[in-house]
Amino acid sequence: MISNQFDTKPTAWSALFSEPMSDLVKRYTASVSFDQRLWQADIRASLAHAAMLCTQNIISPQDFEAIERGMGLIRAEIESGRFEWNADLEDVHLNIEARLIQLVGDAGKRLHTGRSRNDQVATDVRLWLRGEIDQIIGLLTGLQTALVDVAEQNVSVILPGLTHLQVAQPVSFGHHLLAYVEMLYRDAERMAEVRRRTNCLPLGAAALAGTSFPLDRSHVACALDMVDDSGQACLCQNSLDAVSDRDFAIEFSAAAALCMVHISRLSEELILWTCQSLGYIRLSDRFTTGSSIMPQKKNPDVPELARGKTGRVVGHLMGLLTLMKGQPLAYNKDNQEDKEPLFDTVDTLKDTLRIFAEMIGGQTNPATGHKDGGLTVNPGAMAQAARRGYATATDLADYLVKKGLPFRDAHETVAHAVKAAQALQLDLADLPLARLQEFSPLIQGDVFEVLSLSGALNARNTLGGTAPDQVRAQIARHRLRLASV
Ligand code: ARG
Repeated sequence: MISNQFDTKPTAWSALFSEPMSDLVKRYTASVSFDQRLWQADIRASLAHAAMLCTQNIISPQDFEAIERGMGLIRAEIESGRFEWNADLEDVHLNIEARLIQLVGDAGKRLHTGRSRNDQVATDVRLWLRGEIDQIIGLLTGLQTALVDVAEQNVSVILPGLTHLQVAQPVSFGHHLLAYVEMLYRDAERMAEVRRRTNCLPLGAAALAGTSFPLDRSHVACALDMVDDSGQACLCQNSLDAVSDRDFAIEFSAAAALCMVHISRLSEELILWTCQSLGYIRLSDRFTTGSSIMPQKKNPDVPELARGKTGRVVGHLMGLLTLMKGQPLAYNKDNQEDKEPLFDTVDTLKDTLRIFAEMIGGQTNPATGHKDGGLTVNPGAMAQAARRGYATATDLADYLVKKGLPFRDAHETVAHAVKAAQALQLDLADLPLARLQEFSPLIQGDVFEVLSLSGALNARNTLGGTAPDQVRAQIARHRLRLASV
């Protein structure tokens, strides 16, 4: 193992300190056990800073070369697992800097010129989160594509649409799935918005007030690709705000929490649909588990866990909001507490999006080239359920309106018809024409098409409606959009 300590000092600080930290305080204040995941961002930002120091003649080209070389060695050590992270050096930033100094001496000691850990950590977290947001947007595309694929196979499969969890009107199962695509589309848009505000450079703010060195902040921003659509450098414009702002982390968590809330709604439906009394769908065995006592069980653990993990992501959002509440300017150590909730939010959301894309759309089997393990749909069970709840009652009312009856009267007439059918335990479509005509003489033989599930579905042909033509149009729109992400 390579030892990684500032050789001459009892602490990472200065001669001002006469007592070493107690082990308990070290453990309490150290963050390296979790913030080491920022190491790539830290090295990248340090190299951009060093290159700028060199072009500004603040450090020599020889020093810059030594820093570059040292960082190359550190990268190799971390990648191969040989780097010794040391809690005495508190965080990822001090660990890397201390090792650099060990490797290249004075040049390493010059890296921190015109910089503070306050603007350094803010930069590292933004760089790291930007990369994660890009991955999350990709995963959101994957899940939307899986849902659109299943929707396309089920455009004409009829499900009882519910309001208040009571049978309302027949809807296309494809249409139902596309509702989730809309939610995830908005989630992806929100992520892109958050990315724009995250992609802004704090470096140059130094500890809180800026620096007396002639830094070229735009140079660093461009090197880190922190630029807007027109290629202009994005720089945090107030040094106090730059080091203490964690809005980007909070709004990312809000977007992530909302996305998880959407997934929790889908989870709840998947769980309901798999239960024996509905049996609308089956989840592939690889996403379910058995019971240790009841041999017949296949429990939908994955959607249940996603529903549960939504609570934890919402909790992280509350944690971050509360972390910032009442913090005075500028940087306070409270902000070190932003990392664990943020990291866990990213990990939970990414895993959930990945697993849902696979559970819904299946995974391509390399042997056959086909997708295995997606949802299995049972259209018979859905149609049977749709026939049980008078899902076409509105259609009968609309039919009477089209024959001249005012809507309120038609509503009342159909309520009588439903009551009579209920007493006979029959669907409206099962009542003989003569019996239906007792409720209104306007009812003719053409009513049976109107009372059928497919008739009801086809009738809702307004934009955004459930008619198969509309659903196909939406699928085409989504395909076009998803292809250009
Ligand atoms: N580990 C700290 C954090 O995560 C880095 C910044 C520390 N700055 C300081 N002045 N103590 O926020």
